[in-house]
Order: sequence, then structure tokens, then C-alpha cells
Amino acid sequence: MRFLQFELWTDCPFACEFCFNKNIKNQKRKLEALSQASEILEKEILKGVEIVGVMGGELFNPCYPDEVKEGLVSFFNQITSHVLEGNIGQVYVNTPLLHGDRSFLEGIVRIFEERGILDKLLICTSWDPKGRFEKTPYRFKFWERDMLWLREIGVKVHVEVVLTQSFLNSGFDFKLFSDKYSNSIGFITPHVPFFFDGNKQQFQTQCGEFFPKRKDFMEWLVRVRDEGHYKVEDMLDRDLHSNHLYFWRDEHGFLERSNRTTDEKYHPIEFRKDQVGYIDSDRDMREDVISICSL
Ligand SMILES: C[S@@+](CC[C@H](N)C(=O)[O-])C[C@H]1O[C@@H](n2cnc3c(N)ncnc32)[C@H](O)[C@@H]1O
Ligand code: SF4
Repeated sequence: MRFLQFELWTDCPFACEFCFNKNIKNQKRKLEALSQASEILEKEILKGVEIVGVMGGELFNPCYPDEVKEGLVSFFNQITSHVLEGNIGQVYVNTPLLHGDRSFLEGIVRIFEERGILDKLLICTSWDPKGRFEKTPYRFKFWERDMLWLREIGVKVHVEVVLTQSFLNSGFDFKLFSDKYSNSIGFITPHVPFFFDGNKQQFQTQCGEFFPKRKDFMEWLVRVRDEGHYKVEDMLDRDLHSNHLYFWRDEHGFLERSNRTTDEKYHPIEFRKDQVGYIDSDRDMREDVISICSL
């Protein structure tokens, strides 16, 4: 499998409390980003990409100028043409689903539908009980409305959840969530935003119950494993999430990394231990997942 992912820009109007893109300078040159991505795509196709991912920030802000919207439409026309030609197997499109006006996103989904390849599309979105929806409950209504719309028209959805302490405390019910939204769920280890130079304890003073306590995570994990509604052994498995060809755009253009762990400066996956994971331990959360699964 070769996963080629474009992070086209980090701009986003939503300001989730913990967002790791916070305070990163907006990238204004979106048309340039799109034309570079389009060129890279043509080159990478020849090398046998199987999955193409496109993410922001937010891609489908209805307030973007028409030329940006048109640029995105033509990028998705290019991608879907490759799907039709058999060059790309699947397309992952990331969006927070938080806009009242979803017409821009809807237009992109319709491209897949009209070309008869809706089954090749995976919408990736996120859910969080606190940092995303607590202060803006109306946004949860938009999110839920769009999730139900996507289910109705038969689009697969993958939901990412950051493993925060408030998530562990929320009494999340895997069965209820999956039955309601019929999606797959993936988890992300919490880490301090990229602009923040301090450690996780310092960040936590600004951001409530963000990093989980190790004991609470372990107990939750055992419970989830025993309930059997989620394949715990896959949780936080890096091979499933980040070991792929990845393009991330900064103000100078796209940076290519064959593995996101290689360039700490731009998109660190190998975080400083004091900036990621548990609030009360520097142990890797994935190590605990492995040990719980082997019990
Ligand atoms: C930065 S967002 C970009 C895509 C899109 N705007 C969204 O929220 O789904 C990508 C993922 O990173 C997660 N994320 C944001 N801040 C994070 C942090 N400090 N630690 C871990 N994950 C975080 C989000 O919840 C989301 O699932
Ligand atoms: S929607 Fe995504 S990119 Fe936007 S603020 Fe929230 S986590 Fe960050």
C-alpha cells in the first residue's frame, strides 16, 4: 500500500481548544498549493500510489474565494479521473464537518457520485467531547447532520478521536456510536501544539483535562478490550496511520518525507516525550496497548 497524503494548508476557522495547528501562520497561497499538489500527484501516480489523502486545516470553508473553490474542484476532478483510470484505489478526504453551509463539501462528494465511484471515497473527520463541541454545541448539530447525510448517501466515514482525559471520562459507548453513525474509529495520541515550546504539564494548565492519566487509560483499555466492540490491538498502531509518503506544505512549498518520523522540525511524530502522551508518565501509550493485549 502506498499512501500519498497532501496537507494542503493548515488554515481553519474553528479554533478547537487543543488544535496542534494553532497559531501556525495562515498559508494564503492556496492556489499555489493546489497547483503544486497537482504536479506532485502526476509524478507519484507513475510510482504506483494506491491511496491519496487530502487534508487541511479545513478544505471546504464556504467563505473561500471562488478561485480557491474552483481550484479544489479541479484537483478532485484530477484525482477522480485517476480513480476511473485505475491508478488510484481509494481517496481519503479530511474535513471537520462543522459548517452550517455544507454546499462546498457536497459539490466534491457529488463528483464521486456522478462518476460512479462513491465507494472509493472515505471521509475522515474527528470527534471530541470537549475541545471541539463543548463551547459550540450548535457545531455538534452540524457535524451530526452531516454524518447522517453521509450515511444516507452511502459514503464511508472514518472518525478520529484524540485520547484525552476528558474523552476517557466521557463514558464513550463504542457500540452506540458505531450503530448511530456506522463508521470506523481511529485514535490519536495527544500532544502539545506545534507552536508551544513547553511541556505537556505546562500546556495542560491552558487546556483542561487534555493529557490522560496512565492508570485511567489502562483501566479504560481493559474495559474496551473486554467489551469486544473495538479491536484494541490496532489502537495507536503507527503502521496503520503514519508510515506513508506524506506531503506537508509550509511557506516554502511542499516538503516530502517518505516517513513522517524523519523530520521532527516540521511534522513531528517522534515527539519529545515531555510533549506527548500521559500527563503523569513519559511511557509510550502504544507500549501499554501492546502489553494489555498480550495479557
Ligand atoms: C489538525 S486536524 C486537521 C483535520 C481537520 N480539521 C479535523 O479536525 O479533523 C487532524 C487531527 O488532529 C487532531 N488533533 C488536533 N490537535 C491535536 C493535538 N494537540 N494532539 C493530538 N491530536 C490533535 C484533530 O482532532 C484531528 O483529528
Ligand atoms: S477543526 Fe481541525 S484544524 Fe480546525 S481547529 Fe479543529 S482540530 Fe484544528
